[in-house]
Amino acid sequence: MLPQHFLTLFFFLLLSCNTLTSTSLQSLEKQETFDFVRPIDRKLLSLNKKEKLSHFRFYWHDILSGKNPTAITIVPPPLKLNTTTYFGSVNMFDDPLTIGPQLSSKLVGKAQGFYASASQDDFGFLMAMNFAFIEGKYNGSTITILGRNSGINKAREMPIIGGSGLFRFARGYAKATTHWFDLKTGDAIVEYNVYVFHY
Ligand SMILES: *[C@@H]1O[C@H](CO)[C@@H](O)[C@H](O)[C@H]1NC(C)=O
Ligand SMILES: *[C@@H]1O[C@H](CO)[C@@H](O)[C@H](O)[C@H]1NC(C)=O
Repeated sequence: MLPQHFLTLFFFLLLSCNTLTSTSLQSLEKQETFDFVRPIDRKLLSLNKKEKLSHFRFYWHDILSGKNPTAITIVPPPLKLNTTTYFGSVNMFDDPLTIGPQLSSKLVGKAQGFYASASQDDFGFLMAMNFAFIEGKYNGSTITILGRNSGINKAREMPIIGGSGLFRFARGYAKATTHWFDLKTGDAIVEYNVYVFHY
C-alpha cells in the first residue's frame, strides 16, 4: 500500500470513528431524557391541528376471472365441511381503486388484503385490507380496514382501525355497496364511501 493510501484509510477511520461517537452520544442523550415511555407534546407530531372529517368515494374492482385476476383463492374451502358459505376459504387481493365505476377511470390507489369466509350459516367475510393511495397528496398514505363484510347485504359497514402518513391516528368507517356483480365469475365492482377522521 502506498503511503497516501494509508493516509486516506486513516482519515476514513477517523471520520467513521467521529460519526460513531457522535451518534452514540445522541442516543445516550435520548436515553437520558426518557427511558421507556414518556408523555409528549402533540405539537411534536403535528397533532395540534384540528382533526378533520373527510368523505372519500371510490370503486373497488375485485376480478377473479380471466388471465389477470386481481383476487386469488389462496385457501380453498375445506372439503370435509359441507357448507354453502365457503367457510374457511381465503382470498388475497390487490384490487384497483378508481374514481368512477369503470375500471378505465382514474386510478387512485389499490386495496390490498384478504377476505376470509368466517361464517357457516350465511355469507360473512372477515375483511382485512389497506387502502394504499397514489392520488395527489395522499400518495403513500394508507387506511386500514378490519371488519365483517356480510356479502349479501346491500350496504356493508366496516371499521377503519387506523392508517399511516396523512391518516395517522385515523378512525371512522367504510360503507361498501355492490355496484355490479357477476354471479358466474364472482367478479365485483363495489362502491366504497369512506368517512374518516384524520389530522
Ligand atoms: C351437503 O348438504 C346437503 C344439504 O345441506 C346434502 O343434501 C348433501 O348430501 C350434503 N353432502 C355431503 C357430502 O354431506
Ligand atoms: C407516488 O409516489 C411515488 C414515490 O414516492 C412516485 O414514484 C409516484 O410517481 C407517485 N405517484 C403519483 C401518481 O404521483
